Amino acid sequence: MAGRILPFGMALPVIQAPMAGGGSTPAMAGAVSRAGGLGFIAAGYRSAKAVRDDIAAVREQTGEPFGVNVFVPQPQAADRAAVARYREELAPEAERYGVALPENPAWDDDEWAEKVDLLVAERVPVSGFTFGCPPPEVVTRLQEAGSVVVITVSSPAEAVAAAEAGADALSVQGIGAGGHQTTFLPPPPSWEPPTDLAELVAQVRQVVDLPLAAAGGIMDGAGIAAVLSAGAVAAQLGTAFLRCPESGAHPVHKAALVDPGFTETAFTRAFTGRTARGLANRFMAEHEASVPLCYPQVHHLTKGLRRAAAEQGDPHGMNLWAGWNYRGIRDLPAARLVEILIQETEAALA
Ligand SMILES: Cc1cc2nc3c(=O)[nH]c(=O)nc-3n(C[C@H](O)[C@H](O)[C@H](O)COP(=O)(O)O)c2cc1C
Repeated sequence: MAGRILPFGMALPVIQAPMAGGGSTPAMAGAVSRAGGLGFIAAGYRSAKAVRDDIAAVREQTGEPFGVNVFVPQPQAADRAAVARYREELAPEAERYGVALPENPAWDDDEWAEKVDLLVAERVPVSGFTFGCPPPEVVTRLQEAGSVVVITVSSPAEAVAAAEAGADALSVQGIGAGGHQTTFLPPPPSWEPPTDLAELVAQVRQVVDLPLAAAGGIMDGAGIAAVLSAGAVAAQLGTAFLRCPESGAHPVHKAALVDPGFTETAFTRAFTGRTARGLANRFMAEHEASVPLCYPQVHHLTKGLRRAAAEQGDPHGMNLWAGWNYRGIRDLPAARLVEILIQETEAALA
C-alpha cells in the first residue's frame, strides 16, 4: 500500500480527523503524518495565533503533508428569546456545577478571516472545512497558495455545492461519525442519509468526480477496506485516535469511552445547538427536547458548565463525542495505530 501518493499528498489512505476541543493535538497530527497518513490540526474554537503555533509544532516534527481544519461561520441570525429560555432551563445545572452562565452568549465567527489568511500565509498542505462551504474566492486563494482544499459534506447535495465552490477533494461524513455533523444544506425530502457509509460514498460518487475521503464509524482495517472498495481514496478516523497517548481529550472523556456504564451513542444538540454524536448521558437526556437550534450561542452558553463537569469528574455534564462504533477503540500510540490499520486494510483487501 505504501509508495502511492494520494490526492491529499500522503502515502497511506488514513486520515486522522481534526478534533476540536482538544481531541487532536499537534503531537498526534505530527505522529500520523510521519507514519505516512495525514494528520490534521483542528483550528475550531482556537485563536488564529494558537493555530499558528500548532502549525509550527507539526512542522517541527515532520516535513510530511498535514491538514488544518476550519469551521465555516454560521448565519448570524439566532432566536435570542429561545437562547434565553434555554439559559433559564440550565439554571439548576449551573447550580449543580457551581458556575455562572453567560448573560447573553454571543454569535462569533471563530476568527474566520484571520484563519483563512493564516492558512494562505503558511501555505498549509491541506485546508479542510466543515459546517459549510467556503466561498469560491477563499478556495481559489488557498489553491494559489499551494493548498489542497477539502470540504466536508454529508449528502450528495452538499457534495455538488462543494464541487461548485472549487473543492479539490471531499470528506464524506456519514451519520455514524463522532462529533458534529457538517450538515449545511437541507436534504431533499425524499432523501434519507444512508446508515452504510460505503453507500453514502457511492451516492456522492454518482454526482461528483472528486477524490473522496470517508468518515464515520471506522475503527479498523475492515472499515477502511469497505470505503476504499466503494471508491473512496482514504478513510478518515476520529474516535479511533481518542485514547492514543497523543490525544488531548479530557481524561473523563477518555475513561467514558471504555466505561461499560455507557451503552450507546446518540445525536444531540443539547451542548452546542448543532447536531453532534456522543455517548448518551444525563445532560443529553434532560435537555435534548428543549435546546434551540442556535450555534454557536448554545456552545458558548454551556461551555463553562461542561468544563466544570469535566473538572469535577462528572461525565454526565459534558459532551463525550464518539462515533457509533466507539467500542472498537484501542489504546495505541497514533503511529502504531496507523501501522496496524494499514496491515488490517491490506489483509481485508487481499
Ligand atoms: C471529539 C471529536 C471532535 C471533532 N471535531 C471536528 C472538527 O473540529 N472538525 C471536523 O471537521 N470534524 C470534527 N470531528 C468529526 C471528524 O472529522 C469525523 O467526521 C469523525 O470523527 C468520523 O467519525 P468517527 O469518530 O467514528 O471516526 C470531530 C470528531 C470527534 C470524535
